[in-house]
Amino acid sequence: MDTQALKGSWRQVAQSGDQVPLFFYSALFLMYPETRSLFPVSMAAQRDRLVNALGHVVSNVDRVNELVPFLQQLGRDHRKFSVVAQHYPAVGQALLATLEHFLGDLWTPALARDWTAAYGLVAKVMTEAAEESSATSPPWWEGEIILHEVRVPGIAVIRARLNYQYPFRPGQSASVSTALRPKLWRYYSIANAPRRDNTIDLHVRVVDGGTVSTALVHAAQRGDILKISAPVGDRLTLSPGPARELLLIAGGTGLAPLKSLVEQVAHEGPPRAVRLFVGARTSRELYDAEALAKLEADNPWLSVVPVVSRDAFYRGEHGYAVDVALKAWRDQDVYVCGSEEMVQGSVSRLLDAGVPPEHIRFDEFTTAGGREP
Ligand SMILES: Cc1cc2nc3c(=O)[nH]c(=O)nc-3n(C[C@H](O)[C@H](O)[C@H](O)COP(=O)(O)OP(=O)(O)OC[C@H]3O[C@@H](n4cnc5c(N)ncnc54)[C@H](O)[C@@H]3O)c2cc1C
Ligand code: HEM
Repeated sequence: MDTQALKGSWRQVAQSGDQVPLFFYSALFLMYPETRSLFPVSMAAQRDRLVNALGHVVSNVDRVNELVPFLQQLGRDHRKFSVVAQHYPAVGQALLATLEHFLGDLWTPALARDWTAAYGLVAKVMTEAAEESSATSPPWWEGEIILHEVRVPGIAVIRARLNYQYPFRPGQSASVSTALRPKLWRYYSIANAPRRDNTIDLHVRVVDGGTVSTALVHAAQRGDILKISAPVGDRLTLSPGPARELLLIAGGTGLAPLKSLVEQVAHEGPPRAVRLFVGARTSRELYDAEALAKLEADNPWLSVVPVVSRDAFYRGEHGYAVDVALKAWRDQDVYVCGSEEMVQGSVSRLLDAGVPPEHIRFDEFTTAGGREP
């Protein structure tokens, strides 16, 4: 297989930008109309991740061994879209039609053979993983909302009770979909350690113009059923090995996964010192202050420090959470979570201050779903 030709041809096609997903979906839905109902009603080409991933992953087939865990996860995850093995040839055909259209004379029988083989390989890894996981876990769980609190304008804490056992590790996230916005899935971090009553808490902040976050905060209510897919992610799970002390830095709803780590320490013991720095722009945005104060009062090994960046009248710590946290850094493991901007800024501050990279774990709330390694 000529993998350089695969990569080169995808680079060429990708130059046509948004035209590529437009053509791909037209071809797919024309040739295989039964696939239309798997996708959201309204599809913005700018948001497309499937076509981009198809071109990128398939043309990187020379790294397939390295990509296997990602592809297995992607395949398992596709069960939430109601995708089954029979859909893969349809997507493969639409991909080939798209390549042919944009490559024109550059589309040769040899290139067609290589793309077909590479797609087949990727599809095989994804479908096999999906099939294997069907035996042990459902494509999604159903979670009834039993508590819906808009704590401060634009941020809600939502508690859902899942319909059956939902194994997850603190620090993980789940992809969530609401019937208010059918077929759209977004990741939210689980804000608690596993509970006997099988409930999970989500902290959701409205993003300007955000489809799912707006529905979850402003329209969802008690009694609604959410779809919740299998938990994912290991960036923020506690490192195995000796129980090192922790310094946790949260921005906004980036608090959610870090709070679950605090609960894990509380459950597992023996306790280790944990310092949690909770950043917000204004004191009004400190949506979980009361619950955190209680957690701190109950656990002598925990200290919680709210830090506010844009509120001249606030009486507590001012500035960025990372700067206040750095003053308390004594060789602990550092975990950071929040918006892309907050996380990137914080991690570079930590590195500049001499925190060894192997002691920094972080995750960002990007628009991206499943991430490639
Ligand atoms: C692993 C992971 C965990 C996450 N956990 C949480 C969580 O616990 N709590 C939480 O509130 N959010 C979390 N998010 C973000 C969440 O998945 C959604 O991206 C967010 O709720 C916006 O979705 P939406 O449908 O409302 O916006 P969309 O309709 O998808 O987007 C609307 C507009 O906002 C922009 N946008 C979308 N998402 C973001 C974002 N995160 N930051 C800045 N701009 C954005 C888009 O580019 C677009 O212009 C997490 C994301 C990831 C990847
Ligand atoms: C090699 C094969 C494939 C790859 C690499 C791939 C990759 C992806 C990726 C990366 C996403 C984004 C995931 C996310 O945001 O969480 C996605 C979404 C999706 N994929 Fe696939 N996919 C493949 C095959 C298929 C097939 C066969 C179908 C069935 C028709 C399918 C249907 C979907 C749907 C419905 C979505 C959600 C789209 C949206 O919300 O706009 N995919 N895919």
